Amino acid sequence: MEINPNFKKVAIRAAKEAGKVLERHFRKNLKISLKKDSSLVTDADILAEKKIIELVTTNFPSHNILAEESGGEVSKGYTWLIDPLDGTTNYAKGFPFFATSIALLYNQKPILGVVFNPLTKELYFAERGRGAFLNGKPIKVSDQQTLLEGVIIVDRGRLREEFPKFYKVLKKVGGACKTFRYWGAITLELCQTASGRTDGLINTGCNPWDFAAGVLITKEAGAKITDFKGKNWQIDTKNIIVGNKKIHKQFLKLIK
Ligand code: IPD
Ligand code: CA
Ligand code: CA
Repeated sequence: MEINPNFKKVAIRAAKEAGKVLERHFRKNLKISLKKDSSLVTDADILAEKKIIELVTTNFPSHNILAEESGGEVSKGYTWLIDPLDGTTNYAKGFPFFATSIALLYNQKPILGVVFNPLTKELYFAERGRGAFLNGKPIKVSDQQTLLEGVIIVDRGRLREEFPKFYKVLKKVGGACKTFRYWGAITLELCQTASGRTDGLINTGCNPWDFAAGVLITKEAGAKITDFKGKNWQIDTKNIIVGNKKIHKQFLKLIK
C-alpha cells in the first residue's frame, strides 16, 4: 500500500510540537485532575493533545480521530490514534520517562506510528512494511535466545479487570527471566524492546491509543506481538507478550 508522504511529515511535526508542550510544563506547577477511571490528567496532556489535533485536522480534514483526552472512535478508512502524553503518572511526579504517541490506522490497522521522547529527543518511527527507525537509523529487536538471560519489561495497565492476569503472569515470568523493569509508559517501553535495549515485554490492560504506534514500531523492528493465547495483536487486544520469535515462544509456553 502506498503511504502518502505527508502523513509522515505531519505525524512527526505533531509529535515534536506536542513534545515542546510537555517539555515546557515538566516539573512546573501543574493542574492535576483525577479522571473517572482514577487515572491522572494534567494541563500538559490537554494542551499537547490540542496541538496534535489542530495539525491533523488542518492537514487531513476528512480523517477520523480518536484521542485519549477528547475521545472519538476508530472507524473505517483513516483514523489517527493519539496519546498526547503516555506516562502521565510519571510526568505528574517529575519522573523523566514519558512520550507522545501518534498512530495512523487504515481500516483499523496501524500503517504509521511515531513515538517521541521530548527529554532525550529520541524519535521512533515506522510505516507498515518499511522497518523501524530511531532518529532515522534502523533499529531491531535483540537476538537474545533464552528468556532466562532476558531483561523483560512488565507493565500492569490501567484496566482493573485485567489485574488478576497480570499477577498470574508476573509470578511465572518473574522467576523465569534474568531481571525485569517497570517504567510506566507502555509506548516508550515497547520502543525499548524495539531498539534491543530490553529483550521482551509483558503488559495487561491497555487501550488502543497506548498500543498502536509502539506495537507497529516494535513489530517493524522484528518482534512478534500477540495476546496471551498467541493471537496476533489487533486494535482491541488488551494483553500482550512481546519478543523476538524465540523469546515470544518461551513466553507463550510459560504462561499458557
Ligand atoms: C498509561 C501508561 C502505563 C500503562 C497504563 C496507561 P497514560 O498511559 O502507558 O504504563 O500501564 O495502562 O494507561 O495514562 O499515562 O497515558
Ligand atoms: Ca497512555
Ligand atoms: Ca495519556
